[in-house]
Amino acid sequence: MGIKPDKSFLEDLINKRRSIRKYKPDNPPKEWIETMLHCALMAPSPSNSQPVRFIRISSTGKREKLYQGLNSGKEEFLRAIQHKKEAKKLKNWINTYYRYSEFMFKAPILFAVGTITSYKSFSKRMFEEGIIRHDRREETSLDITVGLALKGFILKGEELGLGTCILTGPMVFIPNIEEILGIHDVRIKCFITAGFPGEKPDMPPRKSIAEIISEI
Ligand SMILES: Cc1cc2nc3c(=O)[nH]c(=O)nc-3n(C[C@H](O)[C@H](O)[C@H](O)COP(=O)(O)O)c2cc1C
Repeated sequence: MGIKPDKSFLEDLINKRRSIRKYKPDNPPKEWIETMLHCALMAPSPSNSQPVRFIRISSTGKREKLYQGLNSGKEEFLRAIQHKKEAKKLKNWINTYYRYSEFMFKAPILFAVGTITSYKSFSKRMFEEGIIRHDRREETSLDITVGLALKGFILKGEELGLGTCILTGPMVFIPNIEEILGIHDVRIKCFITAGFPGEKPDMPPRKSIAEIISEI
């Protein structure tokens, strides 16, 4: 009680990990990515359903099409805000989020991450049977499960010396990701990049524990 234990290896990894947005061009070894995927696979999931899928986007053609989707999304946004009162502020915002999306195309490894559409949870069944009026659980469970899988993936990457970055920004610009990638049975929730880090960012500020905990 009251004595802080020494920082563990795990805590160290958690503290050291940063989102990496610049990469060296070298491809990480295939086996490293495989162990990262294994760590993702070991995450808990509702009823052990393991609904998370990682789709590696290696094909230049697919990357190019996605990139075009990002650019046309940006152009469309810029057109739509032209006559708005806060056009300048909105434009800056769009450009910032564009930058925070575009870098993924320069990463040696890019995955789209999603969940299978065939997953039928208990809550979905109850909803379909008309027993509950709203299914608040299904999407939440899937999002949590993706997050847990990604945490395993990024921490193993950190241990191996690989940088990663989760991205949902591109989802705002590209509404038809599944269509572009030709995916029918997975709903894409985010992207994740990986590679040897080409930058060493400082830690963005974190809240104190007191700010995130309350007791009732
Ligand atoms: C769900 C989620 C979505 C994110 N989307 C983006 C993104 O689109 N672009 C980006 O550059 N970073 C993205 N990030 C990374 C965050 O900006 C980053 O985690 C945060 O600023 C804290 O920095 P750190 O990861 O280095 O500790 C995302 C992170 C999460 C968890």
